[in-house]
Amino acid sequence: KKVLVAGGAGYIGTHVCADLAMNGYDVVVLDNFANSSPLAIHRVEMLTGKKIGVYQADTRDYDSVIRVFEAEEAKGSPIDTVVHLAGLKAVGESVEKPHIYYDNNVVGSINLVRAMDEVGCKKLVFSSSATVYGDARSSPIKECHPLSATSPYGRSKLYIEEMLRDTCISDGGWSVAILRYFNPVGAHPSGLIGEDPKGIPNNLMPFITKVALGKQPVLKVFGSDYPTRDGTGVRDYLHVCDLASGHLAAIEKVDDLEGSEVYNLGTGNGVSVLEMVDEFESASGKEVPYEIVERRKGDVAVCFADPSKAHEGLGWQAKLDLSHMCSDLWRWTERNPDGYGVEEHLERPLSTPGAKSGVVPLDRAQLAPAGQAGVAAKAADAE
Ligand code: UD1
Repeated sequence: KKVLVAGGAGYIGTHVCADLAMNGYDVVVLDNFANSSPLAIHRVEMLTGKKIGVYQADTRDYDSVIRVFEAEEAKGSPIDTVVHLAGLKAVGESVEKPHIYYDNNVVGSINLVRAMDEVGCKKLVFSSSATVYGDARSSPIKECHPLSATSPYGRSKLYIEEMLRDTCISDGGWSVAILRYFNPVGAHPSGLIGEDPKGIPNNLMPFITKVALGKQPVLKVFGSDYPTRDGTGVRDYLHVCDLASGHLAAIEKVDDLEGSEVYNLGTGNGVSVLEMVDEFESASGKEVPYEIVERRKGDVAVCFADPSKAHEGLGWQAKLDLSHMCSDLWRWTERNPDGYGVEEHLERPLSTPGAKSGVVPLDRAQLAPAGQAGVAAKAADAE
């Protein structure tokens, strides 16, 4: 079965691609590499020994999106299911530049759905977020909890969810699984793929790794006066590999789902910032100095999932504990202190001469870092 992963070169996308490839799916990635690197796909190929089809295309450009579907169909096996993770996710940035978020996230999703409709591919797994619960009044949070948004980013997810629900109402042929992620952390245990945020990270765990590497002097803990065990914010951290396996379960689900269904993907456990710091220190053997500062605007005290619907409906459950999350994160960080290597990535030519504008199928050599083309070829041969 062929699965198109839109945003497949990103943090979550690479883990989803790896899991799909390891489980016998034919994987095709569509990514504009705005926040990611083609080298990440090369790593997925190294890890899985499978060849991943890659198109550099932007979901904001409908013509590019439809060409990806057509190009795959022309090869004789059309795309069966789409996993849509192509979106921007920085809350603060979305407040400053809302139109960019609506354009990327909402317009991009509309184009993807339009193109899918056009070619008759009507099975979709969509990456949503617990952010759609807004300022949740109580945890654990069930899927039926009232929805609201506290930022343009959150609102973009809400609009897309509504658009997908309307699409399913308008045409009974559609099946959509909407996955609301809680706080994905960690990295693949191989140390080959992980999160590679550009600039200074906003999220807790990527920031902690910068402190452990000595690239940031101190972790700022946003508030210690919340009504929680130790006064710091409580979240539902889940291992990114567990999150990836939730996508596989959802892909199977949309095979015989009628209409749309929403699932929380979380562990159901709330963990505080200081507990996370402790776990990371034990797993890494590194000290993470921190100071307590003011609360961050827009943060809630406590947010964790009731994941029972995913358990019952998808047969999915998070399996990996905090020590796996932290030790896998540290392995990836130690081995890749500069992520996938931004400079090298930027020097690489991304356009294929003669390719139609807007959509660029990347070839093997472009995926491999200089001097490692043989590794990609080997990975592809191993299939
Ligand atoms: C954030 C977004 C959420 C988004 C998710 C994407 C906000 C308000 N929410 O979730 O919408 O879907 O990222 O990954 O931005 N913390 C610190 N110091 C730091 C960073 C974080 O103390 O330097 C604390 C926060 O106050 C919070 C916890 O760590 O209590 C987790 O923060 P973070 O990793 O940013 O995730 P969320 O805010 O839960």
